[in-house]
Amino acid sequence: MGFSVIHFDVLIIGSGIAGLSLANRYDESLSIGIFTKKGEAESNTNYAQGGLAAVMNIKDSYEKHVQDTLIAGAGLCNEDIVRMVVEEGPVVVQDLLNWGVKFTKLKDNEEAFDLGKEGGHSERRVLHAGDITGREIERALVSTSRSRPNISIFENHIAVDLITLNKLRKDKWLKTYKDKPDKVLGAYFLNKNTGKVITVKAGIVVLATGGAGKVFLYTSNPDISTGDGIAMAHRVGAKIANMEFYQFHPTCLYHPKAKSFLISEALRGEGGILRLKDGTPFMDKVHPLKNLAPRDIVARTIDFEMKRTGDECVYLDMRHKSREFLKKRFPDIFKTALSFGIDMSKDQIPVVPAAHYLCGGVLADATGLTSIENLYAIGEVACTGLHGANRLASNSLLEGCVFAKKTYEATAPVFKNGGSRGDGKKGANFGKGGAAGEKGEMEEFNILPEWKDFGFSDSDELIVITHNWDELRRAMWNYVGIVRSDKRLERAKRRIDNLLAEIKEYYWNFKITPDLLELRNIAEVANLIITSAVLRKESRGTHYTIDYPNKDDKNFKHPTVL
Ligand code: FAD
Ligand code: SIN
Repeated sequence: MGFSVIHFDVLIIGSGIAGLSLANRYDESLSIGIFTKKGEAESNTNYAQGGLAAVMNIKDSYEKHVQDTLIAGAGLCNEDIVRMVVEEGPVVVQDLLNWGVKFTKLKDNEEAFDLGKEGGHSERRVLHAGDITGREIERALVSTSRSRPNISIFENHIAVDLITLNKLRKDKWLKTYKDKPDKVLGAYFLNKNTGKVITVKAGIVVLATGGAGKVFLYTSNPDISTGDGIAMAHRVGAKIANMEFYQFHPTCLYHPKAKSFLISEALRGEGGILRLKDGTPFMDKVHPLKNLAPRDIVARTIDFEMKRTGDECVYLDMRHKSREFLKKRFPDIFKTALSFGIDMSKDQIPVVPAAHYLCGGVLADATGLTSIENLYAIGEVACTGLHGANRLASNSLLEGCVFAKKTYEATAPVFKNGGSRGDGKKGANFGKGGAAGEKGEMEEFNILPEWKDFGFSDSDELIVITHNWDELRRAMWNYVGIVRSDKRLERAKRRIDNLLAEIKEYYWNFKITPDLLELRNIAEVANLIITSAVLRKESRGTHYTIDYPNKDDKNFKHPTVL
């Protein structure tokens, strides 16, 4: 098959904090392709409010940040990884500053940062840019990437599947390399503007595709969060871990027109109190940290209170703070609440929990390397051992940035030692081959097979996709949400199995579309979540089941690896 393959030294899928900050680290001798399925800034990162946790204050210490992370993680964190990430915190903060991120500073001392506090933190350590921290980070990182001649950004390109040696052998495209261990060679992308699938080959492939909040009916996540990276990695046999641990954020705005707008935990860091409809505060008796207890506990308590009282929401009370303070510290939240008729300085904010963060993901080591050679996973898509069973607030932006640095440090020297054969110029290299560390060995892969669309006709039943999408998200919310049971998980499993079969048939009969790709991915991720939840016969962190309400360290103090 004689046709061109676009080649990059480093192929990064996703343009959130993990993908962009990685790209910005490589020097101009390497060609970097960032492929992203929407606009360049559209990501979970873009919506981050509270901020990025790092030890920046003499009252604080690495040890305190480590302990807070371990406690939140409920016994499942990898302590070495936690220490590494925490100690890299101030280093990556400096990198972000160098790339132009402007974190809010204290008024009376321009050198010091204004540090926020969130659930589970024993000290103020959350760097923020007002309450639009993520938007500010994306602005600076995108602008840096755009200014680099060796980085090309492809918007509106959705990754369809990874290309691996095993896949080529299975498809009988490849007749040699029978005994070589599997490795990733590139990926297929659907160009959403043209409807064409292109083949991209790379020395290394980095999944930086973020989370999967859209698997649940109610989520704080934007529409991009469909777990694509996890589903793609799983399809090529990469190990996936801890999928049962989905974190629910306690406070999303409850309003029919507010599509799960987040009300940052940083409000509770400024003294916000959760109350029932009749004004009763309800966190005081539940945990010594009261309204700033770890997130799983607050979300579960709200769920319990809503079920007990039959109320549709609970309330967050910020009325102890002045209008001026609230407008200055939380400008976006203040403005958004006001647009729905809620003046935070006078009215309590109606809030409900919503799916927020996937603690599990593609199993990755301390450098971001997955179980497949040359395939890396960084940011929310990865399971590195940092979060264990429940992520500490604001540790996610930190993780994305630290693991990008680790992946860079592990891969840049390999390219320098001869692994790279990109021409280092901006734009793709057509028809070049090469894989990290194996100069000359992979000549055969100068060409990779073209994408084969098995479905030849456009679907005339798009409504099927919408229905499946709704059914799946509702089943996950009802049966695999904040409180689980064996029976609910069984019910969910039956429904997801049916949906998977239907989606599979649909997938092979019609031309692929972005909606169909996302539906397939979200269904596979739902299946991974249910399978893992069924295996964990205990309650720990974000996984709570009424059938096994206690932690069982004897049998389950280990990650769930699929
Ligand atoms: P993302 O930022 O989600 O980026 C993923 C990228 O991958 C996107 O560009 C997406 O388009 C692309 N992509 C996905 N699939 C494909 C595909 N198939 N093909 C091509 N491209 C693809 N964490 C904190 O630490 N502090 C906070 O204050 C905070 N606040 C939050 C507030 C909200 C509302 C939300 C939703 C999350 C918040 N989080 C916060 C969590 C945090 O924002 C995310 O975990 C983190 O930003 C993830 O970064 P990432 O780079 O891994 O992925
Ligand atoms: C928030 O601002 O409440 C979100 C923080 C996080 O998810 O880490």
